[in-house]
Amino acid sequence: MTEIKAAITGVAGYVPEDVLTNADLAKIVDTNDEWIRSRTGIEKRHILKGEGLGTSDMAVKAIEKLFQKTGTNPEEIDLIICGTVTSDYNFPSTANVISDKVGAKNAWSFDLNAACSGFIYSLTTGAQFIETGKYKKVLVVGADKMSSIVDYTDRTTCVIFGDGAGVVLLEPSEDGNGIQDSILKSDGAGRKHLIQRAGGSVLPLTKENIEDRLHYVYQEGQPVFKAAVTNMADVSAEIMEKNGLTGDDVNWLVPHQANLRIIDATARRMGLTSEKVMINIQRYGNTTAGTIPLCLSDWESQLKKGDNIILSAFGGGFTWGAVYLKWAY
Ligand code: UT7
Repeated sequence: MTEIKAAITGVAGYVPEDVLTNADLAKIVDTNDEWIRSRTGIEKRHILKGEGLGTSDMAVKAIEKLFQKTGTNPEEIDLIICGTVTSDYNFPSTANVISDKVGAKNAWSFDLNAACSGFIYSLTTGAQFIETGKYKKVLVVGADKMSSIVDYTDRTTCVIFGDGAGVVLLEPSEDGNGIQDSILKSDGAGRKHLIQRAGGSVLPLTKENIEDRLHYVYQEGQPVFKAAVTNMADVSAEIMEKNGLTGDDVNWLVPHQANLRIIDATARRMGLTSEKVMINIQRYGNTTAGTIPLCLSDWESQLKKGDNIILSAFGGGFTWGAVYLKWAY
């Protein structure tokens, strides 16, 4: 029997209209365009504005584009997984809300929280349901409204993050293309360096902890940077070695867009030239679970069937990992 692989058969992305430039941020906190560009590579980011709008609304925009492009009927979808750390509500899950809004009446759905690795964790999870033969159409979403948890008085974090969403459709493939391998890792000890401290069961929201700004993203940039550079590069090299790939064999690296310097270090370690690396951090900043599907969406027209692609991410948890896939269309 031919082995069933899970293949990405469509991709779409969405970023909200409103743009926050480095110059805009320099009016809010003590920063400047030169510092942000040289330390992170970011020039602007998109911000979701509008009362009552949340992460699901961006995901829905991306999914509607995907349905249109692929000619998919929402009722054909079996499962929706949404990687996010900025769920619409603590419960129900954002994926539940999305399934209602897009009319995926026959899907079950859940969120997966792995911070910046949310998309590759969700993709690997979704792929299992295709590979077993159980399901035929799985939507994997990576979406975050980071502006809802970023402290715009903290210059060390507010310059990095933006809002955005991306989605892929996973379907069975029998021609050898699709997801080939993944290596996923986590180390919860990293939580001391990158965490949203209040709003969960340990510190439910109170007037006091909100005044102490504990409901916002807390990040110690340097330890996170060091762990990201080492682990994203190591896991990317590991998946190449495990699959007998050299830099020449890899067509594209799709790195999580946290910092241009982390991306460059990963590409160097993999022996890749810069034209094989997808980089859109300058336009969108770090959209957490959104970065990788947004890259795939922006580069879709340049991808060819059979291309060897490595997805790689590092984020809060700590969580990190890499996925090796062969592009299927
Ligand atoms: O995606 C999830 C995982 N997250 C990441 O991967 C993020 C990893 N960390 C980073 O990308 C970097 O650590 C940052 C971009 C957050 C910070 O860059 P850095 O090169 O590590 O800067 P730093 O924290 O070492 O700060 C250097 C200096 C400090 O000033 P002093 O102490 O040298 O006087 C900071 O106060 O830069 C200052 N600084 C700023 N200056 C202007 C920090 N933020 C800013 C700012 N504008 N926005």
